[in-house]
Amino acid sequence: MWMYPGPAQQQGRSYGRGCVAVVTGASRGLGRELTLELLRRQVSVIAVARTAETLDAMRGEALAQSSGSAMYIPCPADITTEQGVWRVEACLAQSGLVLMALINNAGMLEPVAPVARVQHPWDPAATSALADWRKHFELNLFAPMELSRRLLPTLRATNGRIINISSGAASYPYHGWGAYCTSKAALDMLTATIAAEEPSVTTVSVSPGAIDTDMQTYIREKARDVMRADEFEKFENMYLEGKLLHPSTPAFVIARIALEAPRSMSGHVYKWDDPTLARFRSHQDAMFSPVMEVVPAPAPDEAAFPPEMMFDDYQ
Ligand SMILES: NC(=O)c1ccc[n+]([C@@H]2O[C@H](COP(=O)([O-])OP(=O)(O)OC[C@H]3O[C@@H](n4cnc5c(N)ncnc54)[C@H](OP(=O)(O)O)[C@@H]3O)[C@@H](O)[C@H]2O)c1
Repeated sequence: MWMYPGPAQQQGRSYGRGCVAVVTGASRGLGRELTLELLRRQVSVIAVARTAETLDAMRGEALAQSSGSAMYIPCPADITTEQGVWRVEACLAQSGLVLMALINNAGMLEPVAPVARVQHPWDPAATSALADWRKHFELNLFAPMELSRRLLPTLRATNGRIINISSGAASYPYHGWGAYCTSKAALDMLTATIAAEEPSVTTVSVSPGAIDTDMQTYIREKARDVMRADEFEKFENMYLEGKLLHPSTPAFVIARIALEAPRSMSGHVYKWDDPTLARFRSHQDAMFSPVMEVVPAPAPDEAAFPPEMMFDDYQ
C-alpha cells in the first residue's frame, strides 16, 4: 500500500482519499495549477473563486488529473464577504473529508498608484481612493486571516498546514505598489503570528516568483505609467524573453509544501526556489510517480478527529 512519505507518515497519518485541501483563487493562474497538482497527488480540493463558470470549466481537466481518486469540489464564493467564508466552511462540512491544508492564494495587485495619490474619491487628482486600498486588504489580508481563523479548529485536529502565498513585493517597495507591498508584508507577519500561537498547525509563507498569469498581464497593460521605468521593464522584459514562470512550476513545489512541510518551517517565509526547499522540488520521489497506489480513504480516527471538533463551527 502506497503512503505519502515524510513528516505526515512520521506522525502516523496517511494521505490519500479522504483528505482535502482548500485552495482560494483556484480558477486561474497559480491557484488553478495548485488545484491540479494536488488532485494529481490524489488529494481532494475545495476550489474557491468567485466565478462559478470558470470553476465549472475546469472540471474535466481536474477529474482527469485525479484519475477519479480524489474529488474536485468547486466552491464559488467571494472570500471577502462573511457569506463567502461561510460557503467555504459549508463546502468543507458537506464534503465529509479531512482538511489537511488551507492555501490562501487568491490575491490582487490593484490599486497601483503612489501613496501620495491615494485620495478621497471626490478629489479630481486622485488615481486611487482609500476605499480601493480597503478592498485590496479585504482580499489580500483579511480573507486569509478570517479563513485561517475559521478553519483552525479543524486544522489543529489534523496537524494541518496553512500556506499563505506571498510575494517578493513583501520586502521590496515597488513604486506604485503600496497596497500590494504592505498587504503581502502584513500577510507574512500573519504567518509568523499564527505559527507562534498555533503550535499544532504548520503555517508557512511562500513567494511563487514572477509567473505568467493575469496579474502580470495587468502590470503590462495597466501599470506602465505609474511604475518606475526600470521596475516596469524588469517585468516586461521577463515576459518578452519568456522568463516568466509557468504557474505549474511553483505550484509543484507549493503543493508539496502544503502536504509535507515539517513543523520546523512554521512561521517562515520562503521563495519557491529557495535552496533549502530542494526536497520539495525533487521529481524523484514516490509522490511524483504517475503510477501510485492510492491509500484507501483513511477512516477518520474517531479519537483523533471527533466530529464535534472537526465541525464545531458548522453547527
Ligand atoms: N503573478 C505573479 O507574478 C505573482 C508574483 C508573486 C506573487 N503572486 C501571488 O500569487 C497569488 C496568485 O496570483 P495569480 O497571478 O495566479 O492571480 P490571478 O491570475 O489574478 O488569479 C486570481 C485568482 O483569485 C480569484 N479571486 C479574486 N478575487 C477573489 C475573491 N474576492 N474571492 C475569491 N476568489 C477571488 C480569481 O478568480 P475570480 O476572479 O473568479 O474570483 C482567480 O482565481 C496571489 O496571491 C499573488 O499575489 C503572483
